[in-house]
Amino acid sequence: MIRHSKREENSLNRAATPARTQAPVKRLRCRALLSFAALVFIVAGHVHPAFGNPAQVTNLLQPLSQPAQEIKELSMLVLTICATIFLIVAGLLVYAIVRFRHRPGDEASEPPQIYGSNQIETAWTVLPILIVFVLILVTSRTIADIQDRKAPPGAIHSTVVGHQWWWEIRYPELGIVTANELHVPASDGNRRQPTFLNLESADVAHSFWVPQLAGKTDLIPNRENRMWIEPTQPGTYLGNCAEYCGMQHARMLLRVIVQPPAEFEQWVKEQQQSAFEDASATEGRKIFFANSCVSCHAIRGTSAQGTFGPDLTHLMSRQTLASGAAPLSHDSLRAWVHDPQQLKVGCLMPNMQITDKEVDQIVTYLETLK
Ligand code: CUA
Repeated sequence: MIRHSKREENSLNRAATPARTQAPVKRLRCRALLSFAALVFIVAGHVHPAFGNPAQVTNLLQPLSQPAQEIKELSMLVLTICATIFLIVAGLLVYAIVRFRHRPGDEASEPPQIYGSNQIETAWTVLPILIVFVLILVTSRTIADIQDRKAPPGAIHSTVVGHQWWWEIRYPELGIVTANELHVPASDGNRRQPTFLNLESADVAHSFWVPQLAGKTDLIPNRENRMWIEPTQPGTYLGNCAEYCGMQHARMLLRVIVQPPAEFEQWVKEQQQSAFEDASATEGRKIFFANSCVSCHAIRGTSAQGTFGPDLTHLMSRQTLASGAAPLSHDSLRAWVHDPQQLKVGCLMPNMQITDKEVDQIVTYLETLK
């Protein structure tokens, strides 16, 4: 009886609610919807230009290397299971809402109430446990499989050191040091040649992420992390630092250049050479060595042995400058040497306050470092 009278009260209240108290609620909902749409629009608008050339948009769902492929297969399995559960639950919910909706004349009746069904309770306890168990098993198997992979003979080993805000790349066995662009050979059916990476950090935490090749792995100070990639398709793969590491985190870009084995070997041979000495750039060379450039940069085969900044021995063999902040060209190099802070505010290379003429001479020298 009490319930009955309460219901009546409610319906009376509802009928008595004036339209003007419902209007602000509607307006609020409308505003919330509009704000959400605006947010989606802003985010979409910001994501696109950040990728630059649309032809190079990295497709997360198109892995082209072994660990990325395994991760995608696992994600698809998890997604399928979760989507099925969602469809069943949402379907039942919609069915219940439509089938048992309020109808005129329903006021006095309650649907039949069911309590204490052992079968139903057992089913909804055991089934989710089984599903979660399957997901745990499959996920741990994939993680273990990726983490425990042993380097086969012929694998390439590289050490990647994260710096604010660039990547130092070393191949200890090959005697190569470079920066920001990791070269690796492509594997094929006949010759598997994965690359194993040791990840370290010189300052703060960074994260190595090239979506089409593998999952993210952090570079943590005083710790050595490990990962591997085994791409099969030659090409340039874009990546970036995926752990906020300071002002220029967004310009800590990374490229993995996957080459056919013969081409990779050729690249190794070229990189193993000491710096090329070109008599046409003597003036610039003098200025470079007279300034503090040498305290931070190394040029193999010369007295420049700094390790604070990128190795410049074969600077001109790279595609980009300042960890992907600009494509490597005469103009960008000139702008960089003139004032690095213009191109990458907050970077650790200061404005050296050198004259325009000296900038030109240094650039002429740097451009001989092929
Ligand atoms: Cu390095 Cu973010």
